[in-house]
Amino acid sequence: MDKKKIVFSGIQPTGNIHLGNYLGAVRNWVREQAEKVNYFCIVDLHSLTVPQDPDNLRFQTRSLAALYLACGIDPEVSTIFIQSHVTAHAEGCWLLNCITPLGWLQRMTQFKDKSAKQESVLTGLLDYPVLMAGDIIFYDADEVPVGEDQKQHVELARDIAQRFNALYETDFFVVPQPVISKVGARVMGLDDPTVKMSKSLSDKRGHAIRLLDEPDEIMYSFKRAVTDSGREIRFSDEPERAGVNNLLGIYQAITGKDKTAVEADFAGARGYGDLKVGVAELVIETLRPIQARYKELMDDAAELDRLLAHGAQQARAVSQPKVDEMKRIMGLVLPG
Ligand code: TYM
Repeated sequence: MDKKKIVFSGIQPTGNIHLGNYLGAVRNWVREQAEKVNYFCIVDLHSLTVPQDPDNLRFQTRSLAALYLACGIDPEVSTIFIQSHVTAHAEGCWLLNCITPLGWLQRMTQFKDKSAKQESVLTGLLDYPVLMAGDIIFYDADEVPVGEDQKQHVELARDIAQRFNALYETDFFVVPQPVISKVGARVMGLDDPTVKMSKSLSDKRGHAIRLLDEPDEIMYSFKRAVTDSGREIRFSDEPERAGVNNLLGIYQAITGKDKTAVEADFAGARGYGDLKVGVAELVIETLRPIQARYKELMDDAAELDRLLAHGAQQARAVSQPKVDEMKRIMGLVLPG
């Protein structure tokens, strides 16, 4: 039998995760976890690249861990851990900084977008993709399942791995592949289908569906979703039909049906109103068991801590020797 592929992915604990994070990432992790060796990280160090309220960051970090579990990541099968619990990430990031050309980072689209929105840009924001590259390559990950917006960062991780291998004439780092699902990889904002659904806008009512939103709130957001003046419910690439396309895409990603079958489900609909309610009901029913399990997990703080401590121990056992060996290759003297 072929060796199992190694998978690494993560989410920033910067706010309630939304349907985009779920359909673009977590759901795909859950679906394939049994066939892979998995590391799913709560990337709290990445969150520090923009200012955070400390109490909120602490809460969101534990909340995201509980959501990973509630969404179906099985700690018996996958390693779940908090990035800052495994010091190899920050330590190894420094080593990678010292082989990464500055120009590579300045070219990153997300850095350009995010830095344009900040009054004062932190060094960490520029360095963010190097920390992410380390996350991936310190585990010899073959695959990185992410949404469309992270593709460029995973490609940079490939470049960094290849550069290290070339500089030190080695095949020490595995060169990872981004894995982006065909459906759900770019869920758009309900209030504006020209921008992707994003955590930074998720406090704006009607923009995102957060996984912990109440059914009434979910229905409200879908009912107000921006569509167009037409009535026909079908997939389309036309920019003015992006809202309807997004709603159908969400429905398709959840049901796993093909486009024709999705359109057939709405064949008898009287207009976009029926589509909005139909998608909202599906999302509410999909999130109901996740929300119930989340509450149970958050009520048992000791068990959550135990699982996270166990995950960190497993992650350390893999990444620390890798970073130690990287130091040796680079000419640092290891403690005797
Ligand atoms: P983050 O926290 O912004 O997003 C987490 C995951 O959700 C996906 N995603 C979306 N997918 C579809 N539609 C959307 N609207 C949408 N918005 C977000 C993202 O693509 C991502 O997969 N840099 C990463 C976190 C990270 C990481 C890593 C990921 C740090 N180290 C190592 C993979 C491997 C980030 O900020 O994702």
